[in-house]
Amino acid sequence: MKRLKGKNIVIGITGGIAAYKSADLTRRLMEAGASVRIVMTHAATGFVTPLTFQALSGQPVAFDNNEADADNGMQHIELARWADAIVVTPASANTIARLAHGRADNLLTALCLASEAVKCFAPAMNRVMWDDLSTQANCRTLTDKHWQQFGPASGLQACGETGEGRMMEVGDIMQALAQCFDSGELQGLNLVVTAGPTYEAIDPVRFIGNRSSGRMGYAIAEAAQHAGASVTLVSGPTHLTAPDGVQLTAVESAEEMRQAVFTQLGDCQIYISTAAVADYRVENIASRKIKKSADKLTLTLVRNDDILSLVAAHPKRPFVVGFAAETENVVDNAREKLLGKKLDMIAANDVSDSAAEHGDGQTIGFNSEYNALHVLSTADGTRVEQQYFAIARKSQLAKQLISLIAAQYKMKNQNEKNTA
Ligand code: PMT
Repeated sequence: MKRLKGKNIVIGITGGIAAYKSADLTRRLMEAGASVRIVMTHAATGFVTPLTFQALSGQPVAFDNNEADADNGMQHIELARWADAIVVTPASANTIARLAHGRADNLLTALCLASEAVKCFAPAMNRVMWDDLSTQANCRTLTDKHWQQFGPASGLQACGETGEGRMMEVGDIMQALAQCFDSGELQGLNLVVTAGPTYEAIDPVRFIGNRSSGRMGYAIAEAAQHAGASVTLVSGPTHLTAPDGVQLTAVESAEEMRQAVFTQLGDCQIYISTAAVADYRVENIASRKIKKSADKLTLTLVRNDDILSLVAAHPKRPFVVGFAAETENVVDNAREKLLGKKLDMIAANDVSDSAAEHGDGQTIGFNSEYNALHVLSTADGTRVEQQYFAIARKSQLAKQLISLIAAQYKMKNQNEKNTA
């Protein structure tokens, strides 16, 4: 939790039974070295008293009808400027709707609208309210406006029902909040990240491609750069712009990608293979556009090199992270790729039609803003460890993955030093 030290955090508390959990969050943030200020909506004060939070944070609590007492009635501006992050927890369906629509009709919503800080929200509500299409659309509007969404979790609810809508546990909120700040975890390291599809030419106008948009890889490149790494992004054709500070090498085919990767490998400590690289290419690319003539056309395909396997087999191999796009037996197949290709880590995503849907029909994996990852690693050299990163925006998952990669890379290096 070093990343929270010295940070100014505003906790916005809205009306919900989970409001009491924000007392624990306040205490734990302060223990982590953050300064905390509390803003409560009127509804929140019906669940918990401002005095509790004043005692815990050591600061007066701000709520709707005491703004006039503050300097010039400008408390929302003062807090908006002070905050490094605002975390609305619990975030009720009502407040989420207000925030999504840019309302500024209470101190908390006005403060959020006026602030350039990192903004996060932890939804907490009855499962039916959570499933409601308006709530889902409002959450998406917020995440589109770069709010970080934490949870919700699933389980028994205060109303007696069971389902999705419980507020994320405080420990998980702390972790997610810490990941919103640059970590320096990869300071001084060189990373190569591959992203996007490859195009395998058939003739001058046609190619064999795939549905990769590049979003997952670009998000990883950005998260790695924010964590202090020097990042080279080797990307197949996409519509995305490379993140600031990331060096882009644009390629088209798998063979061009292989060459670009190996040019960078000498000075690379971590290789992350997010690209959807074609397994096959056309044996004889036609030099002219193939004319429509016969009823059937046969193309002979030949195997491409598996770039990931080649990198992992290199005598001076970096820490190697693969991805696996699977439509069935996701974890078992990923484990096979992890061990078969001798990787340090693999992140597997379910790209089948039946893959989990996010909210109102949002799919995961290829060409989506969202994903969910089963991460398997062998970094301690003895056994396969497994974690699941639940459905979230790719930007959020990328931060989680980069944190894990940084930790495992350090652990592997330490183990190698100990056994040398
Ligand atoms: O780009 P998005 O729209 O954001 O979608 C993200 C994604 C679904 C493409 C991404 O999350 C993902 O799963 N990437 C890996 C896709 C893939 O090719 O999976 P695979 O299981 O076929 O390949 C396994 C690994 O081998 C991958 O790391 C791949 O980069 C690598 N590979 C494959 C073939 C090849 N010739 N060379 C390789 O290096």
